[in-house]
Amino acid sequence: MERVTFKIFRCDPEKDPMSRYQDYEVALEPGITLLNCLNKIKAEMDPTLTYRMSCGSAICGSCAMRVNGHALLACKTQASDLVKNGVIKIDPIGNMAVLKDLVVDLEPFWASLRKVDPWLKPDSQDNPEKEREQTPEQFNLIDDVTTCILCGSCWSDCNILEVDKKFLGPATLAKAHRFIYDSRDAKTRERVESISEKHAVWDCTHCGECSTRCPTETKPLSRIEEIREAAMIAGVHNNNGARHVLGFRETVGKSGRLNENYLPPRSVGFFNIPGLLDIMPVGLRMVMRGKAPPIIHHSIDKVGEVKSIFSRFDQYRK
Ligand code: SF4
Ligand code: SF4
Ligand code: FES
Repeated sequence: MERVTFKIFRCDPEKDPMSRYQDYEVALEPGITLLNCLNKIKAEMDPTLTYRMSCGSAICGSCAMRVNGHALLACKTQASDLVKNGVIKIDPIGNMAVLKDLVVDLEPFWASLRKVDPWLKPDSQDNPEKEREQTPEQFNLIDDVTTCILCGSCWSDCNILEVDKKFLGPATLAKAHRFIYDSRDAKTRERVESISEKHAVWDCTHCGECSTRCPTETKPLSRIEEIREAAMIAGVHNNNGARHVLGFRETVGKSGRLNENYLPPRSVGFFNIPGLLDIMPVGLRMVMRGKAPPIIHHSIDKVGEVKSIFSRFDQYRK
């Protein structure tokens, strides 16, 4: 059996504020999961090692941890797939404070979820005598997102959460999607409006890390894109993100290329003086470093072809 070194993050702030890595040598049995390796270490070598687990079946979401730098579910992953040069390096999931070893404080994660009212809000006038039914087509819209097990892997590896602690985060946006697209919910517009503000659906940078790390079919980035689509269709346009989309479409649809002089003021709003003043230093820096786009914006040669794509898309949408 292959012998592997488990390099595990250890930290017990109540006793010692300094964190460290501790090595454990384990002989990997064929087919053993990462979680069972940790259970073996705890049972046979070190009962003080602390981590969360419950179901052992990728259902409860409690065993998420960072392995070799990326979040995953320990119970769903074969240990042998994680060995790099004889070592498996394990850390607590990211973007959360460590309580002890691999256990983190999940409260910011729950607090973020609570912000999107994660429960059904049906029409108050509607008083059915039996359960509210859905067609298979209606359920298909929320099928993937209902597989979320709230493990926090997406939250751990989200780049925006690294720099903006107020960002709602991928799991929360996926949860918002679950009710926005639920045919039984009557508050679609209110929900879309509330997550079109700052630190929410338009702040995601599409890095895709959340979907890559997600152990279920939730795939938060796809859900975020669908919320944006819902926002555009619902006419929730009074925000930088939606204006950016509209401006992008206007300029590419007209000339075949992006007008980079037009897009920034179009995104913040032409009459939004504080917003314009905010972006002005970036524009000035671009001018001073010779990076500013040409003042006169020209169309591409085959702009007619681009226009016909937009026109066919508009017909399709109608
Ligand atoms: S795609 Fe968006 S939400 Fe997902 S990890 Fe990247 S920035 Fe975060
Ligand atoms: S969206 Fe995926 S990664 Fe994020 S909490 Fe849900 S199951 Fe976990
Ligand atoms: S122990 Fe429940 S998801 Fe891993």
